[in-house]
Amino acid sequence: MIYHIVVAAGSGSRFGANLPKQFCLLEGRPVVMHTIDRLRHYGQGGEVVLVLSAAFEEPWREMCQEHGFVSPRVVRGGSTRWESVKNAIESLPADADIITVHDGARPLVTEALMHNVLGALQRGAAGAIPVVPVTDSLRRVRLDGESTAMPRSAFRSVQTPQGFQGAVLREAYKQPFAHTFTDDASVVEALGEYPLQLVDGDWRNIKITYPLDIEVAKVYLHSLPHCPSPRWSACATAT
Ligand code: C5P
Repeated sequence: MIYHIVVAAGSGSRFGANLPKQFCLLEGRPVVMHTIDRLRHYGQGGEVVLVLSAAFEEPWREMCQEHGFVSPRVVRGGSTRWESVKNAIESLPADADIITVHDGARPLVTEALMHNVLGALQRGAAGAIPVVPVTDSLRRVRLDGESTAMPRSAFRSVQTPQGFQGAVLREAYKQPFAHTFTDDASVVEALGEYPLQLVDGDWRNIKITYPLDIEVAKVYLHSLPHCPSPRWSACATAT
């Protein structure tokens, strides 16, 4: 069984609005509702699990009622992304043989990207990581301020959803926290046992980080196929 963990328990301090970025409105709906709907459409029938901070459990229920949206099962988040993912993994049943982890603040996941990630896992990869080429030139900056040009073609920008064999991700999240864990690939990599497969991500799969990103996301959203909530969510009561 496939499970898609959507992490949305961050406070979004860089965003600078009253609401964390994942709840800001994108074409009239909270960003994370777009995220969930796209996973429901393109996630090959996998169950979505939503990670929220305690402070947003009640506001989320109200948002669901207001938008006629059926919430996925909600798991309580932690003070770091790592802790939020760990809580979600521990809440999954033993039949979770494929697990993806996706940032709630990335509402534009595409069908092709999901196909790339899940296809690699179904062909046996331990982990599948969507990446895009870097377009800016890169410089490594030392503590003394001196800098050196880096070969751009040797780097990739890493996106989510990142997918893993369930057993691999469970094992990885038993390790103690390290500050180098910025995403799930870095947690799995620290085990030193499993090669990760890079797959094509999508330029439009941006992480909403700054207020203007909402405007960019609107443009990209209109370039993608419409992904409405499944019909059953229109009249059901949110949980
Ligand atoms: O802060 P950053 O943009 O890297 O967060 C990536 C994702 O992780 C966001 O969707 C955010 O809500 C989530 N997160 C979380 N729990 C935290 C911190 C971040 O679920 N404690």
